[in-house]
Parts: sequence; C-alpha cells; structure tokens
Amino acid sequence: MAFFRSRWAAIRRHPALAAITVAFVVLWVIFGALIGFLPGSVLMAALALLIWWVVLEVVARRRARAGRAAPTREGRTAVVAGVAVVLVGFGLMQAVPYGRDHSNPPVTGEPTWHDEATRTLMVRACFQCHSSEVSYPWYAGIAPTSWAVQRHIDEARGKVNYSQFATDPGDADETIEVIRDGSMPPAYFTRFGNNATANLTDEEKAQLIAGLEQTPGMSEDDPGEQGG
Ligand code: HEC
Repeated sequence: MAFFRSRWAAIRRHPALAAITVAFVVLWVIFGALIGFLPGSVLMAALALLIWWVVLEVVARRRARAGRAAPTREGRTAVVAGVAVVLVGFGLMQAVPYGRDHSNPPVTGEPTWHDEATRTLMVRACFQCHSSEVSYPWYAGIAPTSWAVQRHIDEARGKVNYSQFATDPGDADETIEVIRDGSMPPAYFTRFGNNATANLTDEEKAQLIAGLEQTPGMSEDDPGEQGG
C-alpha cells in the first residue's frame, strides 16, 4: 500500500509529466484500435507502465538507501526511465520470432474466376491477406506492427485462402456477402490512406460482384457451390 501511496504522491508532484504519460498511453491504445491491434496495444501499454513503475520504485529505493531525498530530480528520473523502457522494450520486441517469417504457403489452385478483371479486383482488394501471394510491406518487418500484420494474415488465411481454393475452399462461399456488406476488406486496412489500391470504387465493387456471381463457389446460394 505504501508503494502505491508513494507513487500516487509522485504523480501529484508532477502533474504535467503524469498527464503526458497518460496522453501517450491513450493515443497508443487508440492507434492500436485503428490498425486492428487493440488487445496487443493495451497489453503493451500496461506492460510499459508496469515496468516504468518498477524502475521508478527501484531508483527511489536506491536513492533512499544512499541517504538522498527521493523526490529530488524525480521528474527527470521518470522521463529517463520512460524513454529507456520504450527503447529497451522496442529492441526486445524485435527479437521475437513471430511475424518475421514472411513465407507464403503453397498455391494449390485458385477459383475459376469469371474473367481476368474479376481476378485483378480480387487481387487488389483481398490477396494481401487471403492468398499465398502476400507481399509484405516494409512496416511488416518491424515489431509490433509485424505481429499485427502476421496475425491478420494468419486469421484471414484460416478463413479462406483463395490460392488454395482447389484443396480447401474454406469460407469462400461468403465472398460476395462480405464484399456486399462492406465488411471486407476490413476498415483498418485502408485507413490513413494505407493500401489505397484495396479501396474499390462503387463501380468496381459492382463489377467485382457481377464477376463473382459467375465464379463457382463464391456464394452460398450458388448451385455450383463447392465450399462448406
Ligand atoms: C487486412 C487483411 C484482409 C483483407 C485485405 C481482406 N480480409 Fe477478409 N478477413 C480478414 C480477417 C482477419 C478475417 C477473419 C476475421 C473476421 O472475420 O473479421 C477475414 C474473414 C473473411 C471471410 C470470412 C468471413 C466469415 O464471417 O467467416 C471472408 C469470406 C473474407 N474475409 C473475404 C474477403 C474478401 C472477399 C476480401 C476482399 C474484398 C477480403 N476478405 C479482404 C482479413 C482481410
């Protein structure tokens, strides 16, 4: 309890510092939500705060033991500890193997697309996640973004991988539905002007749906549907 009381007192002594820290954490979590990485960003923010807290406590105890008054230069210590936590944490994240293996599973056979235009639109809007032809963007090499990218791609391929339609159609029979209701491509993917080529105009969307209606297996009420 004394632990929390002393930290709380420190926060009250440095309201500006505390406000900046809280603002930074909140912005980070909002950013995480916008790029579809909410659980990860909340976890990281919580971890960073926890580590920062512990570092400050250790510093305060050492100071106290050395006979110096804990509050002196406390604000500066907090800033230095905060920056160090962020930098060291960022460095450690880069060592995590998940998200670095930018491999593509084998191509076993795509749907029999109605025409080349249908395929081109699908490649533009969907293949960055639902295919074995993912070209990883530069930011997919840097954690924690690499984790978010990898998780989206793993999840997306788990639902349907159009490059493996021949062996496993997955949820391909929901293709027309998700394009029509606008849930795919996901909003976070094209936010902030990212992946602009995946943004289809209304005309392109209509053209794509028309093409998919002539492509076997793309809708549940398709008589030639092969999926399940
Ligand atoms: C940024 C990556 C990404 C892109 C681009 C993307 N998807 Fe998805 N898709 C996902 C993820 C992740 C899921 C699984 C989670 C979910 O359902 O939201 C998913 C799920 C699906 C599902 C299964 C839906 C269900 O309810 O089971 C279908 C079908 C689908 N996507 C089709 C498409 C089509 C068609 C496009 C292109 C118009 C597309 N997706 C673009 C990531 C993506």
